[in-house]
Amino acid sequence: ASNKIIAIDGFSSCGKSTLAKALAKNLHFVFVDSGAMYRAVTLYFMRNGVDLHNHEQVQEAIDAIHVDLIPNGETTKVLLNDEDVSEAIRQMEVSEYVSEVSALSEVRKAMVAQQQKLGKRRNIVMDGRDIGTTVFPHADLKIFMTASPEIRAERRFKELSAKGEQVTMEEVKTNLAHRDHIDSTRTESPLRQAEDAIVLDNTSLSPEEQLQFVLDEFQKIK
Ligand code: C5P
Repeated sequence: ASNKIIAIDGFSSCGKSTLAKALAKNLHFVFVDSGAMYRAVTLYFMRNGVDLHNHEQVQEAIDAIHVDLIPNGETTKVLLNDEDVSEAIRQMEVSEYVSEVSALSEVRKAMVAQQQKLGKRRNIVMDGRDIGTTVFPHADLKIFMTASPEIRAERRFKELSAKGEQVTMEEVKTNLAHRDHIDSTRTESPLRQAEDAIVLDNTSLSPEEQLQFVLDEFQKIK
């Protein structure tokens, strides 16, 4: 294909979306936040009390869900069956449940298919956990992001506090560790570094430095 795909994977709160957004803006690519899709599905499951152990119920729910990502200036509007849930999916409650929902094979199958469709005929930057390994194993450029657990918790804590969420640093730390654990130990497309991914540890890099690093790598493959 002639369209280009940049895959950005890594642990929770490593700054994947921030970098992916900056890249998309700089290269005029479409930014796709795959985590937002899983968060929207999770919100639906929570609202409708879907039993995660009941495969039939899970499949029925998946069939009733339609998630859309609409580019909206610097951000992305997330629509769940036409309702704007952009804010709702960032709540701590959703963060606490999203990894359990995302580990279900029915959920992954549906989301991966939709993500692959988004990557047809379009230049995209997609961030997530399994983009370079499962969604686009042939992506043109794969970045695997890491950062120290302290810096990640600090960033996420600031982000949530700024939004007025009442959370403690301890809760944030526990949530990150919880998600990382489930995300990397699940059977279906676990979070792991693709063999051909370039590692970017951004613990002490500014957003500008991170952007430049990836732009340089992209130049090499172009
Ligand atoms: O990227 P974000 O932190 O918003 O993702 C929320 C959760 O969605 C992750 O912790 C993970 O459980 C799930 N996810 C996933 N696969 C992706 C993206 C996100 O399983 N490609």
